[in-house]
Amino acid sequence: MKIFVDTANFDDIRTANDWGIVDGVTTNPSLAGREGRPFREIVEEICQIMGERPVSAEVVATDTEGMLKEAREVSSWASNVVVKIPLIPTGIQAITVLCQEGIKVNCTLCFSPAQALLAAKAGATYVSPFIGRLDDIGHDGMEVVAQTRQILDNYDNLDTQIITSSVRHVRHFVRAALIGSHVATVPFAVLEQCFHHVLTDVGLERFLADWEDAGLSIF
Ligand code: E4P
Repeated sequence: MKIFVDTANFDDIRTANDWGIVDGVTTNPSLAGREGRPFREIVEEICQIMGERPVSAEVVATDTEGMLKEAREVSSWASNVVVKIPLIPTGIQAITVLCQEGIKVNCTLCFSPAQALLAAKAGATYVSPFIGRLDDIGHDGMEVVAQTRQILDNYDNLDTQIITSSVRHVRHFVRAALIGSHVATVPFAVLEQCFHHVLTDVGLERFLADWEDAGLSIF
């Protein structure tokens, strides 16, 4: 499973990137708004950090023509930009056109397998089911990922990749991998949590103490 980091914060992206396990970045208007810098600057800098790896940047128009105009502009900022388009009828229409133009799209705000199928039919490179937000209203978000994966597997001509999104905790991350989500986009704090286990900390402490007691050295 590919791991994307779900943030527009440079420090977090650099730190996660240094770990060597990050395959891409997703942003959204709320995340970009927190950074207090022009959107273009944010996107260009993240794209530079990520090299060839995909960076999702979202449009804010809601009509097809407006989305197409914004998408063409945003995608011209760097070769690894993936344009995020919301899953509404005008958005699906825009995705159809953008895919014909060779612009990569992440179809966002997906909350059902039916919606995901429409995004895939339109040719979206990625579709992003929002798991945490579904759980928040008492639904089983992961079931949407599982059903979408099954639908995509049923048809050879649907090449869309699922990005499990709105990930709130490590269990979401693990379940995404168990189900076979192509990607999980994970907030930095959740990615950090994935490292931690109390037995790792205790175990390391004991190894180091035993090593010191024995007076051993590597060099
Ligand atoms: C995905 O691309 C979105 O940016 C993100 O996962 C939304 O998550 P939230 O529900 O925590 O805002």
